[in-house]
Amino acid sequence: MSGRRSDRTSLDAAFVRRQFPALDNGWAFFENAGGSYVPQTVIDRTVAYMTETQVQPGASFGPSAEAEARMAAGQRLIAELINAEPDEIVVGPSTTTNTYFLGQAIRPWLKPGDEVIVTNIDHEANQGAWRRLAEVGATIKEWRINLDTFDLEIEALEKLLTDRTKLVCFTHCSNITGSLNDVARITKIAHAAGALVCVDGVAFAPHRAIDVKALDVDFYFFSPYKVFGPHLGVMYGKREHLLRAQGQNHFFFQKTDIPRKIPAGYPNHELSAALVGVGDYFDALHRRHFVAPENRFQKRAKRVFGLITDYEGAIGTKFMDFLRAEPKIRVIGRPTGDAKKRATTFSFTVKGRASAEIPPLLERGKIGLRNGDFYAVRLMDALGLERSDGVIRASMVHYTSNDDVERLIRGLEKAI
Ligand SMILES: Cc1ncc(COP(=O)(O)O)c(C=O)c1O
Repeated sequence: MSGRRSDRTSLDAAFVRRQFPALDNGWAFFENAGGSYVPQTVIDRTVAYMTETQVQPGASFGPSAEAEARMAAGQRLIAELINAEPDEIVVGPSTTTNTYFLGQAIRPWLKPGDEVIVTNIDHEANQGAWRRLAEVGATIKEWRINLDTFDLEIEALEKLLTDRTKLVCFTHCSNITGSLNDVARITKIAHAAGALVCVDGVAFAPHRAIDVKALDVDFYFFSPYKVFGPHLGVMYGKREHLLRAQGQNHFFFQKTDIPRKIPAGYPNHELSAALVGVGDYFDALHRRHFVAPENRFQKRAKRVFGLITDYEGAIGTKFMDFLRAEPKIRVIGRPTGDAKKRATTFSFTVKGRASAEIPPLLERGKIGLRNGDFYAVRLMDALGLERSDGVIRASMVHYTSNDDVERLIRGLEKAI
């Protein structure tokens, strides 16, 4: 027991960093939007599963029953994290795989001439699966960003919606610009037009709490391997939609067998079980910062995300101040560090230089970041950037230290 009588009001950054063994490697790491480090708790859960229960789950003998229970606990953890029910959560290998399966599963819902709206800012995982619905006769419409502000504007969406619109697919947070979108408002507008929404929360989930019920979304995706967890993707679908969807699993799965009927095959066993380690980590943070216990995991995580938001706002503002003051840098995104408007995912180009020139210069100082299209190729096209060169992206999460940010700034100053 710490013996504290009051809550900590800011994130204990040193405590956070102690939970992540990979942070000892000496690198200032800025490719977090590609995939985050994992805390020891996730490693422990993986090792425990593989040591104690690496058998086919679901039989009645000891280790097999325990394996099944550990996988179910992972599923439950995700459901609690985003305020859903466990049978509304599909655990799969990745978000790309999950959108692909859903794209197949909803084909029977569409008639020729029905309309599907996708954006030109999303990662291809939340575009390609829906654009393929053209194969069953759907008309694909593109909700394009404003090239001056890099924003998806609601007025532009309203002009695209008709009584034939069946799906609106958009991102909660761009993996390039870091901009946050008002999902609840967009969902309300789409629903009023009679359409469902598919929301990509992959770039949002590491930074803020998610409540799918409050957002009222129909489908929501994120990838735990970017949220301090194992390499998996998870999909939320409202139960009524999952029941109606055409399962992609073996023929003998019943229409009511959700979520199992949706994807082909079982998710990775040990990694599904390791999802619980993400919960262990958030619980450790909750105990570290808050005195009063809280029964619901979703609320514990939400309070922790409150501290994370403030912390990220501070490091993000520091980095944005540098970007804005550097005349050779063009920021691709909102020019603010305000945590209400953006996540700490920053993309930029450097005047007169190829993006690919910059990361290797920083690597010499053990600063890891990357350039490219990050699979948002249609955004690169819209911006007139060569896809493979793309933008330079520096993405931070709550274990990114002030010192890391200072190293990055000094490294960029030198490189530029
Ligand atoms: C915003 C966004 N959406 C979707 C994906 C795809 O996720 P996955 O690798 O789980 O398929 C990514 C991966 O980088 C992403 O950044």
